[in-house]
Amino acid sequence: MTIAIDFDQIERDTLTALTATTDSATLQKWRIANLGRSSPVVAALGTLGTLSKEERRAFGQRGNQAKQALEQAFEAAAQRTSQAELTRDLAAGSLDVTAPGRRRGRGRLHPATQTLRRIYAIFAEMGFQIYRSRDVETDEFNFGLLNIPPHHPARDMWDTFYTTTPNVILRTHTSPGQIHVMRERCPEPIRVILPGMCYRYEQITARSEIQFYQVEGLAVGRHITMADLKGTLTAFAHALFGPQVRTRFRSDHFPFTEPSAEMDVECFVCDGKGCPVCKQSGWLEILGCGMVHPVVLENGGYDPREFSGFAFGMGPQRITMLMHKIEDIRYFFANDVRFLEQF
Ligand code: PHE
Repeated sequence: MTIAIDFDQIERDTLTALTATTDSATLQKWRIANLGRSSPVVAALGTLGTLSKEERRAFGQRGNQAKQALEQAFEAAAQRTSQAELTRDLAAGSLDVTAPGRRRGRGRLHPATQTLRRIYAIFAEMGFQIYRSRDVETDEFNFGLLNIPPHHPARDMWDTFYTTTPNVILRTHTSPGQIHVMRERCPEPIRVILPGMCYRYEQITARSEIQFYQVEGLAVGRHITMADLKGTLTAFAHALFGPQVRTRFRSDHFPFTEPSAEMDVECFVCDGKGCPVCKQSGWLEILGCGMVHPVVLENGGYDPREFSGFAFGMGPQRITMLMHKIEDIRYFFANDVRFLEQF
């Protein structure tokens, strides 16, 4: 059985149509119609199996020849068309090679990181090294060695994440790092800050996250007094908030410091006059601090009769919130560029 197809005729017709084509859309249509799976030539070649042996040879040869001729013509037409299109675009002026490129969005430091780096720089100038310590702690380091025995009511201040390994927890504050540095450096004097992530099993609200940064500070040596603590932290507040800002210390309680205090800075939003940010008090609480408790010094390897020290802990995200009047701590990890772009 011979197929009623005239390859000569097809070649002539389709190639004429191709010569007239000058745009890529028409070109693609041509390709589908004449080289696609249901195009006459390709479809005819698909019927080879139904032909007798004698017919198959000649028909196949002629068919493939025609297909190749169409393919070559298509390639040539494609090149010609894209050239023609470029020439046309250039003439129409739609391709302006002098136009500036598209700007790439630029990243920047996260607002919490910006505050952290300012804090590092201020303490570095006062001779404090940065000491990193682990996020995962034992109950002993997070509480026990910091003078918080089991069942002590002070534990209520830190809602804790426990792991499935007994006694292994996520640190609730950076204070266990104090014990690590002391044990590593003893009997050398110490002046370090310990920044890092802390974790508390709390309801997430505008004011509290289950994960947040703290920056701890620790100085241990001979003859370190409360005056050193106040002087250092006042100098820090002046460097961060401006030399005109007033500070005050209020007594407080932490099991690992004695005496303990909180430092407030004069509200820099209202200059101490009273506003919603400082809840009309004129003061903002920014950190907890105190003289290192003798039991803690001893747990770190230092003899409290010879050595003394001070420690402090602050929440850099809370400080960032105060500085930029950020109302919700959840913005820090929400990863919304509209928030991040503002800093
Ligand atoms: N660890 C305390 C807290 O998380 C802060 C603190 C650190 C207080 C060092 C005194 C000294 O609240």
